[in-house]
Amino acid sequence: MTVTAAIKSRISTRAFLDRSVSKEQIREILEIARWAPSGGNLQPWKVHVVIGAARDRLVETTKQAIAANPFGDEAELQIYPPKLQEPWRTRRFDVGEEMYAALGIPRDDKAARFQWLLNNYNFFGAPAGLFFSLNRSFDKGQWAHLGMFMQSIALTAIEKGLATCMQEAWAARAKTVSKFLGLGEDEQLYCGMALGYADETAKVNSLRSVRAEVDEFTVFLKE
Ligand SMILES: Cc1cc2nc3c(=O)[nH]c(=O)nc-3n(C[C@H](O)[C@H](O)[C@H](O)COP(=O)(O)O)c2cc1C
Repeated sequence: MTVTAAIKSRISTRAFLDRSVSKEQIREILEIARWAPSGGNLQPWKVHVVIGAARDRLVETTKQAIAANPFGDEAELQIYPPKLQEPWRTRRFDVGEEMYAALGIPRDDKAARFQWLLNNYNFFGAPAGLFFSLNRSFDKGQWAHLGMFMQSIALTAIEKGLATCMQEAWAARAKTVSKFLGLGEDEQLYCGMALGYADETAKVNSLRSVRAEVDEFTVFLKE
């Protein structure tokens, strides 16, 4: 598989088959992704993997936390700026609408939309979940480096016939998850990632999000 093919075929997969992924498979992916670059070669990332009974326990624990407090844990991380500006606001809106259109959930059915979002906390049915955290002493640079590592995992997964969905949704449950994973006080949870075999028959997985053209975000300076 070429790098181009892996990049272009990676999508956020939001429905997975009930087919397990082993610890060895995940280790193999991490063995490759650890070659991602990072400034000063700090390799700032930390990963917690949940599979099998641990995964199921976390899902159940989170379910109970949601029932007790539907609004989420005290937010530590602001996922988006409070006033998202254009063109980013529209992009976010559009991809959401495209997803609900693929699912056949109308705009005014807020309850169904909320229910759908809760699938995040079941890893969309994926048998494995990865959680990424950083030491609290780190700044924006290290956060960017973590992103490179995460993308390396997502692309390697594609090569291995697996699919992923990165999940900032878990940040809304950071307290619950951090406690479950046993993260130290000095570790901040960033994001989760669902990992498994894509359910190719699921309508939601037919969504192909669009991208801005190169000239919209690139400035080529003349000599
Ligand atoms: C760091 C990160 C976190 C994300 N968190 C979520 C999430 O919590 N739930 C979700 O359904 N999608 C999530 N996404 C998926 C994005 O919505 C998706 O990447 C974007 O719409 C582009 O679509 P594509 O990944 O299919 O190319 C996340 C993506 C990234 C990169």
